[in-house]
Amino acid sequence: MTTDEKWSKAYERAIQVVSKMTVAEKVNLTTGTGWNSDLCVGNTGAIPRFGIPSLCLQDGPLGVRFADLITAFPAAITAGTSFNKNLIAFRARAMAYEFKGKGAHVILGPAVGPLGRNALGGRTWEGFGSDPYLQGIASRITTREIQEAGLIATVKHYIGNEQEHYRQVGEYYGPNNRISKSLSSNIDDRTLHEVYLWPFADCVNEGIGSVMCSYNQINHTYACENSYLMNKVLKEELGFQGFIMSDWWAMKTGAESFQAGLDMAMPGDRLYFSSPDTMGGNKITQAVATGKFPDYRLNDIALRVVAAYYYVGLDKNEVGGPNFSSWTKHTDGFLHPIGEAGWTQVNKHIDVMNNELSRGAALQTATEGVVLLKNDFNILPLDKGTSTKPRRINIFGIGAAPDARGPNCRADMACSNGALGEGWGSGAVDFSSFVTPFESISEHARHLGINVDYDFTTFDFNGLNAKAPFGDVNIIFAVTNAGEGYAHFDGNYGDRKNASLWHNADEVIAKAAELNKNNIVVVSSVGPANLERWIDHPNIKAVLFASPGGQEAGNAIGNVLFGIANPSGKLPYTIARDDKDYIPVVSQKPEDGLPQAFFSEGIYVDYKYFDKNNIKPRYEFGYGLSYSNFSVSNLRVTQSKPPSEYLPAPPKLKPVYSLPCNKTNDVSEYLFPKDFKRVNRYIYPWVENANDLGTVVTTCESANDAIKELPLAAGGLGGNPALWETSFQLTATASNTGPYDGAYAFQLYIEFPNTTSFDVPVRQLRGFEKPFLKHGASTDINFKVNRRDISVWDTVSQSWVVPRGKYKFWIARSSRDLVLSTEIVI
Ligand code: BGC
Repeated sequence: MTTDEKWSKAYERAIQVVSKMTVAEKVNLTTGTGWNSDLCVGNTGAIPRFGIPSLCLQDGPLGVRFADLITAFPAAITAGTSFNKNLIAFRARAMAYEFKGKGAHVILGPAVGPLGRNALGGRTWEGFGSDPYLQGIASRITTREIQEAGLIATVKHYIGNEQEHYRQVGEYYGPNNRISKSLSSNIDDRTLHEVYLWPFADCVNEGIGSVMCSYNQINHTYACENSYLMNKVLKEELGFQGFIMSDWWAMKTGAESFQAGLDMAMPGDRLYFSSPDTMGGNKITQAVATGKFPDYRLNDIALRVVAAYYYVGLDKNEVGGPNFSSWTKHTDGFLHPIGEAGWTQVNKHIDVMNNELSRGAALQTATEGVVLLKNDFNILPLDKGTSTKPRRINIFGIGAAPDARGPNCRADMACSNGALGEGWGSGAVDFSSFVTPFESISEHARHLGINVDYDFTTFDFNGLNAKAPFGDVNIIFAVTNAGEGYAHFDGNYGDRKNASLWHNADEVIAKAAELNKNNIVVVSSVGPANLERWIDHPNIKAVLFASPGGQEAGNAIGNVLFGIANPSGKLPYTIARDDKDYIPVVSQKPEDGLPQAFFSEGIYVDYKYFDKNNIKPRYEFGYGLSYSNFSVSNLRVTQSKPPSEYLPAPPKLKPVYSLPCNKTNDVSEYLFPKDFKRVNRYIYPWVENANDLGTVVTTCESANDAIKELPLAAGGLGGNPALWETSFQLTATASNTGPYDGAYAFQLYIEFPNTTSFDVPVRQLRGFEKPFLKHGASTDINFKVNRRDISVWDTVSQSWVVPRGKYKFWIARSSRDLVLSTEIVI
């Protein structure tokens, strides 16, 4: 149904190939070969006849998981904290280069869900921040870069996967916490569209090849068998052209899920851990052969996968397939570990990190992921280029130090006894190297002739008592950590238990504040943290808040402390004064074992929730200081094309393709080929023997449920094309009036008319621009506002409408520090 030229071409090519495929060949695209079956975390079956290789699907959103000689990039939340579009692109480009070098075809990222409803959510750091607009811009840029590099991007997790607790039956969330069904995220239609679906629409609009459906249920139907969300919302309304893969073992039924719109079962085997049985593979072959599963759906699946393959250019064969194994660090191993088959060199140890992009992208993203929260008396930077620099520095807190167990302290990083580089779970990678803040500070200090002493112990204050009074400055480090629900650390089952700093850091900080008047706190955190114990203490002069910086985390912090870099990060979420101020989540198992999360706050997530409920945050969304001063002036509307209230009719559909019916009653086509040498426990598309197959039906059903008329909201990639047209352009002049060169992220917030029947947030982020300015310099910054940016989802007409009335556009330093405004009446 696409009207997009590039996808149309990809489909034309896919039709040529898929129309010649056998049922088994098509089924080979629907189901992974099983966990541990091939070298990547997910692998599709190959179609050698058409030169389509087994696709290697590999985590994750910050680098190549389970591989050596790669870069551990800063997490996506760190890229979000930068509020820097060019840098987000740079990071994605560098990452894509490394995946390609390691031979992966499909990257299991970007992640935009969790979006951040749960302030303590275990995986929120895998995405870009707790605002749909920020997530949308960052994920579409990331998608563009990955796919321009010739790989398929996967936006995940679709949808409402906002907490780790209760996402999966069988996972351990602490004692007495077993559930009988996954959490149901109960989300209303408007909230779905304006918050959780929003960034997915951006990625679809960008042409993303793949979407991953999530573990949870939405409104009591599992995501990966939710026909409404997959068929209706994603494929019809948003016009998604690629394929939907399941999260790992998130498919609960076979053919039914495929009917509901799922295209690929991952990793393919049935049970939680590797089993030779599947609900896809041979079961689908059998269902198609016996007429129980419509072949047009199978054709549609195969076309979607093959079209995505052509769309990004994987057929150019630039990606040679995986040259690493996810399952062993040994050089030699099994190609198919599950069947202990194909002993060979599986790890080629290809160094993909030494390139022009990686180190620069990693360091710059980590640096711009540091937020300056407080800087009394301009205590920072430590080196101002004058003689007033400190001569004695003490470093306290475990968050500065290397973990005694090394940077790769435990599988998938489920550990946290040292400096923070990334959270844990499938979104983590092994460190090839890791620089701690301690290392970086020591290096700077040596260079400048500064004494450095330290004490990393956090429960015994002897060292601190002895040293803290004598530092010209004490720098105290604190961390929080979180990760994916299958692993836990210190009683944090994926999600954090609370927003407190770990390892007794509050006490360490408070103690240092008692003993010395010059203290700087550095918090490295996966998300919002509670700073209340000491934040107002006059002896805590400065506070840096660093998002997970990957392998360069320490260098980024060191460079900011010493003024090599001017901090320019902005909080991508709100830091509250009290943990109770955040949106409540389900962390107790209900009696019936069927947990439900009612998203009753609706569209009011993060700062919108604080604004609506008049809760004073400690630091609001978008907040962050600089060593310099930035101002903005002369706001003007430079282009104005006010949109109509209702969307124009969507473009006409192209005729629906129909592939020839090539089902055969030659049963041998559905059975294992004679003398085929099988890998034990590997998932194949063939049925064991003719008796299992049943009666073959050779007629084909026609796709009579194909979309005939489009809803108003639909019609192009990401929805009705009019949604993406620029309505207004605003221009303002940004100036650096302070003493340092630096970058500053100005934000655009919009207040919708409050005179209509739509309840609207106080204000919503709808733009951000981050110029780099030498001190004394000025430049114009431009914000483009499209129709969707000023629309609300109308549940009655099931479409976007632009409410009539007065809109107020604010250029701001944060969601609460508003500088300049202009009004537009539509
Ligand atoms: C995660 C996904 C990941 C997949 C493959 C799942 O546990 O939820 O994000 O891509 O595993 O490792």
